Amino acid sequence: MLGGGGMIGQKLAQHLAKQPLLGGRGISHLRLIDAFIEPNIPTGASFPIVSEIADITDSKKCTELVSDRPEFIFHLAAIVSGEAESNFEKGYLVNLDGTRNLFEAIRAEKEYCPRVVYTSTAAVYGGPYPELSEDAGDEFILQPRTSYGVQKAIGELLLNDYSRRGFLDGVGLRLPTICVRPGKPNAAASGVFSNIIREPLAGIETTLSVSKDVSMIFASPRSAVGFLIHAAQLDKKLLGDRRSMMMPGVHATIGQEIEALRRVAGERIVSFIKESAPDPFAQKMVDAWNFPAFPATHARSLGFTCESTFDELIHLHIESELDGKIPGQDL
Ligand SMILES: NC(=O)c1ccc[n+]([C@@H]2O[C@H](COP(=O)([O-])OP(=O)(O)OC[C@H]3O[C@@H](n4cnc5c(N)ncnc54)[C@H](O)[C@@H]3O)[C@@H](O)[C@H]2O)c1
Repeated sequence: MLGGGGMIGQKLAQHLAKQPLLGGRGISHLRLIDAFIEPNIPTGASFPIVSEIADITDSKKCTELVSDRPEFIFHLAAIVSGEAESNFEKGYLVNLDGTRNLFEAIRAEKEYCPRVVYTSTAAVYGGPYPELSEDAGDEFILQPRTSYGVQKAIGELLLNDYSRRGFLDGVGLRLPTICVRPGKPNAAASGVFSNIIREPLAGIETTLSVSKDVSMIFASPRSAVGFLIHAAQLDKKLLGDRRSMMMPGVHATIGQEIEALRRVAGERIVSFIKESAPDPFAQKMVDAWNFPAFPATHARSLGFTCESTFDELIHLHIESELDGKIPGQDL
Protein backbone atom coordinates (compact mmCIF):
# COMPACT_ATOMS: atom_id res chain seq x y z
CA MET A 1 0.00 0.00 0.00
CA LEU A 2 1.57 3.27 -1.16
CA GLY A 3 0.64 6.33 0.88
CA GLY A 4 -0.02 3.94 3.78
CA GLY A 5 0.77 6.60 6.38
CA GLY A 6 -2.01 8.87 5.15
CA MET A 7 -5.54 9.13 6.45
CA ILE A 8 -7.24 6.67 4.09
CA GLY A 9 -4.22 4.33 4.10
CA GLN A 10 -4.32 4.06 7.87
CA LYS A 11 -8.06 3.39 7.89
CA LEU A 12 -7.63 0.71 5.23
CA ALA A 13 -4.72 -0.91 7.10
CA GLN A 14 -6.79 -1.01 10.31
CA HIS A 15 -9.66 -2.61 8.43
CA LEU A 16 -7.46 -5.26 6.76
CA ALA A 17 -5.87 -6.10 10.11
CA LYS A 18 -9.34 -6.89 11.48
CA GLN A 19 -10.77 -8.54 8.35
CA PRO A 20 -7.81 -10.21 6.64
CA LEU A 21 -9.51 -11.33 3.44
CA LEU A 22 -9.01 -10.05 -0.08
CA GLY A 23 -10.19 -11.74 -3.25
CA GLY A 24 -11.66 -14.58 -1.22
CA ARG A 25 -8.28 -15.54 0.26
CA GLY A 26 -6.50 -14.76 3.50
CA ILE A 27 -3.93 -11.94 3.36
CA SER A 28 -0.39 -13.33 3.63
CA HIS A 29 1.37 -10.01 4.36
CA LEU A 30 0.99 -6.25 4.00
CA ARG A 31 3.58 -3.56 3.28
CA LEU A 32 2.70 -0.02 4.27
CA ILE A 33 4.82 2.49 2.38
CA ASP A 34 4.97 6.25 2.71
CA ALA A 35 7.51 8.95 1.88
CA PHE A 36 6.86 11.38 4.70
CA ILE A 37 5.11 9.65 7.58
CA GLU A 38 6.25 6.26 8.85
CA PRO A 39 2.95 4.36 8.71
CA ASN A 40 1.60 3.09 12.03
CA ILE A 41 1.19 -0.66 12.09
CA PRO A 42 -2.32 -1.57 13.22
CA THR A 43 -2.53 -3.99 16.11
CA GLY A 44 -4.23 -7.37 16.13
CA ALA A 45 -3.42 -8.58 12.62
CA SER A 46 -2.96 -12.32 12.12
CA PHE A 47 -0.43 -11.77 9.30
CA PRO A 48 2.84 -9.79 9.18
CA ILE A 49 2.65 -6.05 8.45
CA VAL A 50 5.75 -3.97 7.73
CA SER A 51 6.03 -0.21 7.63
CA GLU A 52 8.59 1.47 5.38
CA ILE A 53 9.66 4.93 4.31
CA ALA A 54 10.00 5.04 0.50
CA ASP A 55 9.39 7.68 -2.12
CA ILE A 56 7.60 6.84 -5.38
CA THR A 57 9.45 9.66 -7.16
CA ASP A 58 12.51 7.37 -6.92
CA SER A 59 12.12 4.95 -9.82
CA LYS A 60 14.71 2.49 -8.43
CA LYS A 61 12.75 2.36 -5.21
CA CYS A 62 9.57 1.58 -7.15
CA THR A 63 11.37 -1.31 -8.87
CA GLU A 64 12.40 -2.64 -5.48
CA LEU A 65 8.89 -2.19 -4.07
CA VAL A 66 7.23 -4.33 -6.72
CA SER A 67 10.00 -6.94 -6.90
CA ASP A 68 8.13 -9.20 -4.49
CA ARG A 69 5.18 -9.07 -6.89
CA PRO A 70 2.24 -8.27 -4.63
CA GLU A 71 -1.12 -9.44 -5.96
CA PHE A 72 -2.86 -6.20 -4.89
CA ILE A 73 -1.40 -2.69 -4.92
CA PHE A 74 -3.31 0.21 -3.37
CA HIS A 75 -1.83 3.39 -4.80
CA LEU A 76 -2.91 6.17 -2.44
CA ALA A 77 0.32 8.19 -2.41
CA ALA A 78 -0.28 11.77 -3.48
CA ILE A 79 0.28 15.42 -2.86
CA VAL A 80 -3.15 16.78 -2.03
CA SER A 81 -5.02 19.52 -3.86
CA GLY A 82 -3.95 22.71 -2.03
CA GLU A 83 -0.28 21.76 -2.05
CA ALA A 84 -0.39 20.60 -5.68
CA GLU A 85 -1.76 24.03 -6.58
CA SER A 86 0.75 26.04 -4.54
CA ASN A 87 3.73 23.83 -5.43
CA PHE A 88 3.36 23.06 -9.14
CA GLU A 89 6.62 21.07 -9.50
CA LYS A 90 6.02 18.87 -6.47
CA GLY A 91 2.45 18.07 -7.54
CA TYR A 92 3.54 16.87 -10.98
CA LEU A 93 6.58 15.08 -9.56
CA VAL A 94 4.61 12.96 -7.09
CA ASN A 95 1.14 12.70 -8.60
CA LEU A 96 2.22 12.17 -12.20
CA ASP A 97 5.89 11.09 -12.34
CA GLY A 98 5.56 8.98 -9.18
CA THR A 99 2.50 7.22 -10.60
CA ARG A 100 4.30 6.57 -13.88
CA ASN A 101 7.36 5.25 -11.98
CA LEU A 102 5.13 2.78 -10.18
CA PHE A 103 3.37 1.66 -13.35
CA GLU A 104 6.72 1.32 -15.18
CA ALA A 105 8.16 -0.76 -12.35
CA ILE A 106 5.15 -3.07 -12.62
CA ARG A 107 5.51 -3.25 -16.41
CA ALA A 108 9.17 -4.24 -16.07
CA GLU A 109 8.21 -7.34 -14.07
CA LYS A 110 7.48 -10.01 -16.65
CA GLU A 111 4.36 -12.15 -16.53
CA TYR A 112 2.94 -10.10 -13.72
CA CYS A 113 -0.38 -8.27 -13.73
CA PRO A 114 -1.41 -7.09 -10.24
CA ARG A 115 -4.74 -5.48 -9.41
CA VAL A 116 -3.85 -1.79 -8.90
CA VAL A 117 -6.43 0.30 -7.08
CA TYR A 118 -5.77 3.93 -7.89
CA THR A 119 -7.32 6.76 -5.90
CA SER A 120 -8.42 9.41 -8.34
CA THR A 121 -10.80 12.20 -7.42
CA ALA A 122 -14.00 13.97 -8.36
CA ALA A 123 -11.67 16.92 -9.09
CA VAL A 124 -10.98 15.37 -12.52
CA TYR A 125 -14.25 17.09 -13.44
CA GLY A 126 -14.39 20.86 -13.72
CA GLY A 127 -17.68 21.79 -15.27
CA PRO A 128 -19.49 23.74 -16.45
CA TYR A 129 -22.04 21.15 -15.40
CA PRO A 130 -25.34 20.28 -17.06
CA GLU A 131 -28.50 21.67 -15.48
CA LEU A 132 -29.59 18.21 -14.37
CA SER A 133 -27.18 16.34 -12.10
CA GLU A 134 -28.28 13.04 -13.69
CA ASP A 135 -26.57 14.23 -16.85
CA ALA A 136 -23.17 14.45 -15.08
CA GLY A 137 -22.42 10.75 -15.52
CA ASP A 138 -19.01 9.08 -15.72
CA GLU A 139 -18.74 10.00 -19.38
CA PHE A 140 -19.03 13.73 -18.56
CA ILE A 141 -16.00 15.59 -19.88
CA LEU A 142 -12.86 15.55 -17.71
CA GLN A 143 -11.86 19.19 -17.67
CA PRO A 144 -10.13 19.70 -14.34
CA ARG A 145 -9.72 23.23 -13.02
CA THR A 146 -6.84 22.44 -10.65
CA SER A 147 -3.34 21.04 -11.25
CA TYR A 148 -4.19 18.21 -8.83
CA GLY A 149 -7.24 17.29 -10.94
CA VAL A 150 -5.13 17.31 -14.12
CA GLN A 151 -2.48 15.07 -12.52
CA LYS A 152 -5.13 12.60 -11.38
CA ALA A 153 -6.86 12.65 -14.79
CA ILE A 154 -3.55 11.81 -16.49
CA GLY A 155 -3.07 9.04 -13.92
CA GLU A 156 -6.46 7.63 -14.95
CA LEU A 157 -5.43 7.62 -18.61
CA LEU A 158 -2.18 5.84 -17.74
CA LEU A 159 -4.13 3.32 -15.66
CA ASN A 160 -6.38 2.63 -18.65
CA ASP A 161 -3.53 2.26 -21.09
CA TYR A 162 -1.37 0.05 -18.87
CA SER A 163 -4.46 -2.09 -18.23
CA ARG A 164 -5.33 -2.26 -21.92
CA ARG A 165 -1.76 -3.42 -22.65
CA GLY A 166 -2.00 -6.07 -19.95
CA PHE A 167 0.79 -4.65 -17.77
CA LEU A 168 -1.52 -4.24 -14.81
CA ASP A 169 -5.18 -4.66 -13.94
CA GLY A 170 -6.28 -1.21 -12.78
CA VAL A 171 -9.37 0.21 -11.11
CA GLY A 172 -9.52 3.98 -10.65
CA LEU A 173 -11.82 5.44 -8.02
CA ARG A 174 -12.94 9.04 -8.38
CA LEU A 175 -13.32 9.63 -4.68
CA PRO A 176 -15.69 12.22 -3.28
CA THR A 177 -14.32 14.39 -0.46
CA ILE A 178 -13.82 12.06 2.47
CA CYS A 179 -15.63 13.63 5.36
CA VAL A 180 -15.38 13.98 8.28
CA ARG A 181 -11.60 13.77 7.90
CA PRO A 182 -10.14 12.84 11.30
CA GLY A 183 -6.96 14.35 12.69
CA LYS A 184 -5.56 17.79 12.11
CA PRO A 185 -6.45 20.08 9.20
CA ASN A 186 -4.26 19.22 6.16
CA ALA A 187 -3.16 20.99 2.97
CA ALA A 188 -6.13 19.74 0.94
CA ALA A 189 -8.23 22.69 -0.14
CA SER A 190 -11.22 20.43 0.52
CA GLY A 191 -10.17 20.43 4.19
CA VAL A 192 -12.63 23.23 4.89
CA PHE A 193 -15.56 20.82 4.41
CA SER A 194 -14.30 18.67 7.30
CA ASN A 195 -12.80 21.42 9.45
CA ILE A 196 -16.18 23.09 9.96
CA ILE A 197 -17.59 19.86 11.40
CA ARG A 198 -14.62 18.24 13.18
CA GLU A 199 -13.30 21.29 15.06
CA PRO A 200 -16.67 22.47 16.47
CA LEU A 201 -17.50 18.91 17.57
CA ALA A 202 -14.23 18.93 19.51
CA GLY A 203 -15.11 22.32 21.03
CA ILE A 204 -12.54 24.18 18.92
CA GLU A 205 -13.25 27.39 17.00
CA THR A 206 -12.84 27.19 13.23
CA THR A 207 -12.87 29.90 10.59
CA LEU A 208 -15.10 29.59 7.57
CA SER A 209 -13.49 31.63 4.82
CA VAL A 210 -15.39 30.40 1.76
CA SER A 211 -18.97 31.07 0.76
CA LYS A 212 -21.72 28.81 2.12
CA ASP A 213 -23.30 28.06 -1.24
CA VAL A 214 -20.32 26.07 -2.54
CA SER A 215 -21.34 22.45 -3.02
CA MET A 216 -19.38 19.24 -2.68
CA ILE A 217 -19.82 15.50 -2.86
CA PHE A 218 -18.93 13.47 0.26
CA ALA A 219 -18.42 9.97 1.61
CA SER A 220 -17.18 8.81 5.01
CA PRO A 221 -13.73 7.33 5.72
CA ARG A 222 -15.60 4.03 6.30
CA SER A 223 -17.06 4.22 2.77
CA ALA A 224 -13.63 5.07 1.34
CA VAL A 225 -12.29 1.84 2.83
CA GLY A 226 -15.33 -0.02 1.46
CA PHE A 227 -14.69 1.41 -2.03
CA LEU A 228 -11.05 0.31 -1.97
CA ILE A 229 -11.78 -3.23 -0.80
CA HIS A 230 -14.62 -3.62 -3.29
CA ALA A 231 -12.40 -2.31 -6.11
CA ALA A 232 -9.63 -4.74 -5.22
CA GLN A 233 -12.03 -7.65 -5.61
CA LEU A 234 -14.10 -6.50 -8.57
CA ASP A 235 -14.36 -8.87 -11.50
CA LYS A 236 -12.46 -7.26 -14.35
CA LYS A 237 -15.03 -8.44 -16.90
CA LEU A 238 -17.47 -6.00 -15.28
CA LEU A 239 -15.09 -3.08 -15.75
CA GLY A 240 -14.77 -3.20 -19.52
CA ASP A 241 -12.43 -0.67 -21.08
CA ARG A 242 -13.25 2.16 -18.70
CA ARG A 243 -11.16 1.54 -15.65
CA SER A 244 -12.07 4.67 -13.67
CA MET A 245 -15.43 5.69 -12.32
CA MET A 246 -17.07 8.22 -10.02
CA MET A 247 -17.82 6.78 -6.59
CA PRO A 248 -21.20 7.41 -4.96
CA GLY A 249 -21.47 10.26 -2.49
CA VAL A 250 -23.72 12.59 -0.54
CA HIS A 251 -24.22 15.99 -2.12
CA ALA A 252 -24.33 19.08 0.13
CA THR A 253 -23.45 22.75 0.19
CA ILE A 254 -21.43 24.18 3.08
CA GLY A 255 -24.68 25.77 4.30
CA GLN A 256 -26.36 22.33 4.30
CA GLU A 257 -23.40 20.84 6.18
CA ILE A 258 -23.89 23.48 8.88
CA GLU A 259 -27.63 22.74 9.03
CA ALA A 260 -26.83 19.03 9.48
CA LEU A 261 -24.38 19.90 12.27
CA ARG A 262 -27.12 21.97 13.95
CA ARG A 263 -29.56 19.04 13.74
CA VAL A 264 -27.06 16.52 15.08
CA ALA A 265 -25.14 18.57 17.65
CA GLY A 266 -27.10 21.76 18.33
CA GLU A 267 -26.57 25.50 18.27
CA ARG A 268 -23.73 25.57 20.83
CA ILE A 269 -21.53 23.44 18.56
CA VAL A 270 -22.43 25.47 15.45
CA SER A 271 -21.38 28.64 17.29
CA PHE A 272 -17.74 27.45 17.12
CA ILE A 273 -17.83 28.26 13.38
CA LYS A 274 -16.66 31.83 12.85
CA GLU A 275 -17.37 33.30 9.46
CA SER A 276 -14.70 35.56 7.99
CA ALA A 277 -14.17 37.41 4.72
CA PRO A 278 -13.48 34.93 1.87
CA ASP A 279 -9.88 33.77 1.51
CA PRO A 280 -9.23 34.26 -2.25
CA PHE A 281 -7.02 31.13 -2.62
CA ALA A 282 -9.44 28.83 -0.77
CA GLN A 283 -12.46 30.35 -2.54
CA LYS A 284 -10.82 29.87 -5.95
CA MET A 285 -10.10 26.20 -5.16
CA VAL A 286 -13.62 25.39 -3.96
CA ASP A 287 -15.15 27.34 -6.86
CA ALA A 288 -13.12 25.11 -9.18
CA TRP A 289 -15.21 22.18 -7.86
CA ASN A 290 -18.71 23.23 -6.87
CA PHE A 291 -19.81 19.73 -7.84
CA PRO A 292 -23.30 18.61 -8.82
CA ALA A 293 -24.85 15.46 -7.32
CA PHE A 294 -22.97 13.04 -9.59
CA PRO A 295 -25.27 10.04 -10.08
CA ALA A 296 -22.33 7.53 -10.05
CA THR A 297 -24.67 5.09 -11.79
CA HIS A 298 -21.92 2.78 -13.01
CA ALA A 299 -20.27 2.43 -9.60
CA ARG A 300 -23.63 1.90 -7.88
CA SER A 301 -24.53 -0.78 -10.42
CA LEU A 302 -21.23 -2.52 -9.57
CA GLY A 303 -22.11 -2.56 -5.87
CA PHE A 304 -20.21 0.47 -4.51
CA THR A 305 -22.27 2.01 -1.70
CA CYS A 306 -22.07 4.92 0.73
CA GLU A 307 -24.14 6.92 3.20
CA SER A 308 -27.25 8.74 2.04
CA THR A 309 -27.31 11.89 4.22
CA PHE A 310 -24.76 14.33 5.62
CA ASP A 311 -26.23 13.75 9.10
CA GLU A 312 -25.05 10.15 8.82
CA LEU A 313 -21.49 11.30 8.08
CA ILE A 314 -21.50 13.40 11.25
CA HIS A 315 -22.91 10.54 13.35
CA LEU A 316 -20.25 8.19 11.98
CA HIS A 317 -17.51 10.64 12.94
CA ILE A 318 -18.90 10.97 16.47
CA GLU A 319 -19.04 7.18 16.81
CA SER A 320 -15.63 6.35 15.38
CA GLU A 321 -13.51 9.33 16.47
CA LEU A 322 -15.24 10.70 19.58
CA ASP A 323 -16.32 7.44 21.27
CA GLY A 324 -19.94 8.24 20.52
CA LYS A 325 -19.98 11.48 22.57
CA ILE A 326 -19.70 15.15 21.83
CA PRO A 327 -17.30 16.56 24.43
CA GLY A 328 -19.17 18.69 26.97
CA GLN A 329 -22.61 17.50 25.96
CA ASP A 330 -24.90 14.49 26.24
CA LEU A 331 -26.16 13.32 22.87
N1 LIG B 1 -9.26 12.36 1.42
C1 LIG B 1 -10.01 12.80 0.40
O1 LIG B 1 -10.99 13.53 0.58
C2 LIG B 1 -9.67 12.39 -1.00
C3 LIG B 1 -10.55 12.74 -2.03
C4 LIG B 1 -10.23 12.38 -3.33
C5 LIG B 1 -9.07 11.68 -3.59
N2 LIG B 1 -8.23 11.35 -2.56
C6 LIG B 1 -7.00 10.62 -2.87
O2 LIG B 1 -6.93 9.49 -2.01
C7 LIG B 1 -5.56 9.23 -1.65
C8 LIG B 1 -5.43 9.15 -0.16
O3 LIG B 1 -5.93 10.36 0.40
P1 LIG B 1 -5.67 10.75 1.92
O4 LIG B 1 -6.75 11.65 2.32
O5 LIG B 1 -5.34 9.55 2.71
O6 LIG B 1 -4.36 11.64 1.73
P2 LIG B 1 -3.14 11.82 2.73
O7 LIG B 1 -2.44 13.07 2.35
O8 LIG B 1 -3.59 11.66 4.14
O9 LIG B 1 -2.23 10.56 2.34
C9 LIG B 1 -1.41 10.54 1.21
C10 LIG B 1 -0.09 9.98 1.65
O10 LIG B 1 0.79 9.92 0.52
C11 LIG B 1 2.09 10.12 1.01
N3 LIG B 1 3.01 10.53 -0.07
C12 LIG B 1 3.09 11.76 -0.62
N4 LIG B 1 4.08 11.76 -1.52
C13 LIG B 1 4.59 10.51 -1.54
C14 LIG B 1 5.65 9.91 -2.27
N5 LIG B 1 6.38 10.62 -3.14
N6 LIG B 1 5.91 8.60 -2.06
C15 LIG B 1 5.19 7.88 -1.15
N7 LIG B 1 4.20 8.42 -0.41
C16 LIG B 1 3.91 9.72 -0.61
C17 LIG B 1 1.93 11.22 2.05
O11 LIG B 1 3.02 11.26 2.96
C18 LIG B 1 0.61 10.84 2.71
O12 LIG B 1 0.82 10.11 3.90
C19 LIG B 1 -4.75 10.32 -2.32
O13 LIG B 1 -4.25 9.83 -3.54
C20 LIG B 1 -5.74 11.42 -2.57
O14 LIG B 1 -5.37 12.21 -3.68
C21 LIG B 1 -8.51 11.68 -1.28
